[in-house]
Amino acid sequence: MKTCAVVGAGLRGQFAYPPYVKEYGGLKFVAVADLIPGRIESFKKEYNISDDMCFETAEELLQQPKLADAIIIATMDQDHYQEAISAIKLGYDILLEKPISPSLKECLEIERLAKEYNTKIIVCHVLRYTPFYKKLKELLDNKILGQIINVEAMENVGHWHQAHSFVRGNWRNEATSSPMILQKCCHDLDIYTWLINSEAEYLSSFGDLAYFNESNAPKDSPKCCLDNCPNRNNCRYDVYKTYLTDDIGWPTNAIGTDMSIEGRTKSLRETSYGNCVFHSDNTVVDHQTINIKYKNGVTMVFTMTAFTEDCNRTLRIMGTKGEIKADMNKNYIEFIDFLEGRKEVFEIEKQSKGHGGGDFGIMHDFIGLLNDEMKNTNPITGSVHSHILAFAADESRNTNKTINIDEFVKKNI
Ligand SMILES: NC(=O)c1ccc[n+]([C@@H]2O[C@H](COP(=O)([O-])OP(=O)(O)OC[C@H]3O[C@@H](n4cnc5c(N)ncnc54)[C@H](O)[C@@H]3O)[C@@H](O)[C@H]2O)c1
Repeated sequence: MKTCAVVGAGLRGQFAYPPYVKEYGGLKFVAVADLIPGRIESFKKEYNISDDMCFETAEELLQQPKLADAIIIATMDQDHYQEAISAIKLGYDILLEKPISPSLKECLEIERLAKEYNTKIIVCHVLRYTPFYKKLKELLDNKILGQIINVEAMENVGHWHQAHSFVRGNWRNEATSSPMILQKCCHDLDIYTWLINSEAEYLSSFGDLAYFNESNAPKDSPKCCLDNCPNRNNCRYDVYKTYLTDDIGWPTNAIGTDMSIEGRTKSLRETSYGNCVFHSDNTVVDHQTINIKYKNGVTMVFTMTAFTEDCNRTLRIMGTKGEIKADMNKNYIEFIDFLEGRKEVFEIEKQSKGHGGGDFGIMHDFIGLLNDEMKNTNPITGSVHSHILAFAADESRNTNKTINIDEFVKKNI
């Protein structure tokens, strides 16, 4: 059986991917690294890791000779590059969390090195592994719509999710993580490029941080929500309603490891999760649109927005022979045939596991790839293209200019 190490045993590296192995086997975890002792302890216990194979940092693990066949890199965005480069050179095959890196040059360098070293590498664009998007891909490849003309897609981030992850949480500030359109929407840019089956030619984008900023702070609101905010009863984002309820599942479990009320209150005081959403140090946008013209002529309008009740992806795909309307959370795909006026609804099996079944789906394929039982359906070049589009979107947003994608890449090599 192939063996695997994990660097970054957090929500993704411990609780999203390894549980697949608990349920289905096929891989043995043999080494782990994390900065938080509690996370190492729980991983060690769950997967029987010996003491000498537990490391405090990814750097330390990667300074050892190769410890396993494969490695899951699930640390924070800015660390992926150095760790991926070390892992490639040591000969690990890699499951690499997205974003590949917050720097386009680094993404291109990882792609180049992975090809040079013949590394089996899958970037965690988990949506490709969901039954929902697999069904859409099958329908489009079978030309159910005839020729695809245009796509209209939404990423509904959800107001509370924006506040948790992108105003208070790890992904709030571009300087310490990456632009919102990269970290959140590289999934969308990957999936639509895959469905449309073409690379992008031109792109333009607009958006900004409209709401979660100082200018919208209620009068006399303190920096930390716990400090008697006079607006507490009128605020949806008040930490008492968000993190100090009986529900200790996600997102509350992301604020610390001690889930007692005292432990959570301490975490709120000591971390940015206690920040008023209007006084945080967040810089990432809360809404952004992208317009793309693909090389095969298809056009797409994509919107990412915090200002929705649902956290969901919805889309419409318009073709010469018909139209598809789809909703990921509802697992709903509706097709209308223009000739017959016939409506068909495709039932997709409901998935209880993370990301509509994508977290387990990617592990299934990664293990298959390690054992040479499966071809890589998501080569790194496709993933890098989605990142290129995200970087181009940010450049367009910041300059109000349309970007020619090939020229943008040449300029950045
Ligand atoms: N594919 C997806 O759909 C998806 C979803 C959410 C997050 N992500 C990405 O996954 C990555 C991890 O996110 P998460 O939600 O698991 O965050 P997390 O904070 O829960 O986990 C990250 C872990 O890495 C550890 N860590 C950080 N630096 C380290 C180092 N130098 N050495 C060892 N351990 C280190 C931290 O202690 C933490 O436990 C991020 O890059 C994020 O963007 C991907």
